[in-house]
Amino acid sequence: MSAGDEAASRPVLVAGAINTDLVARVEKAPEAGETVTGSSFAIFGGGKGANQAIASARSGAPTAMLGGLGDDDFGRERRADLDAEGIDTASVARRESTPSGVALIVVEEATGQNRISYVPGATRTIAADQARDAVARVQPAVILATLEPPPEALAALFEAGKQRGSVVILNATPEAIGARPFLGQIQMLIVNETEAEDLIDSPVSAANGEDAALALSRLGPKTVAVTLGAAGAAIIHDGETATFPAPRVEVVDTTGAGDAFCGAFAAELARGADPFTAAKVGVAAGSLATTVPGAYPGIPRRDAVQRLLAER
Ligand code: RIB
Repeated sequence: MSAGDEAASRPVLVAGAINTDLVARVEKAPEAGETVTGSSFAIFGGGKGANQAIASARSGAPTAMLGGLGDDDFGRERRADLDAEGIDTASVARRESTPSGVALIVVEEATGQNRISYVPGATRTIAADQARDAVARVQPAVILATLEPPPEALAALFEAGKQRGSVVILNATPEAIGARPFLGQIQMLIVNETEAEDLIDSPVSAANGEDAALALSRLGPKTVAVTLGAAGAAIIHDGETATFPAPRVEVVDTTGAGDAFCGAFAAELARGADPFTAAKVGVAAGSLATTVPGAYPGIPRRDAVQRLLAER
């Protein structure tokens, strides 16, 4: 990336979880009451919010994080990870009496698909004032939030963003239903197939991604991206739809792929790209993220994403 590219990008503020991922690789994920023997175990930095912030930073946008960590080893390690990426962590609170977030992840060897249980810990302590202060301090062009912070913090964040004229993107994850109260307040929505289904109450697949995006845009946001796994993403913006198929890659671990999409999408918007270009870049970033084990290690840099796009 040239210095000129960096200068062109305006700040992105990302709100969400910062976790430590405890990851077991197994041949087949266990059913209820079953124990399976895994082949390997690793600890990675994770958390949807942190993954998205890293994706934004590695895409060349000046990036700040709104979040919470405990006063514990995981918290210190994750803050150091974000600092090392050049992410502004001044709005990441350190809580003495609440532990840092942790995710237990099982990844299936053959497909790279995961199953995740996570405990948010200090992410659930993000406060409304903390959100307002972050917007006042960072002056973000783009705000990207998951549903991991408490609803009152999100409401304050979105209101402050609106007052400031920031583009507000909500990634309606992990439990999409929590997005309902905010759909009239945000300009852009990003969901995967399952999250889209939960919000429109009807089946969503690669075959009807654009229809789902249209149905979701009728609920409020004028721009909606529906990520479709290996099929890429469908997007609607100002009533126009498009689908961007994912490049074929060798999938090792899908953890963080959706987050790579969101962070790269936000960073492209911050440098002035239109939402269709941003979605195309996001799809390529998400695909590359599946080729490396672990959340933080898998998130690609902008030059790698641009190379993949140029090869197609
Ligand atoms: O989206 C992937 C992330 O979800 C993981 O890094 C894990 O922390 C979970 O919250």
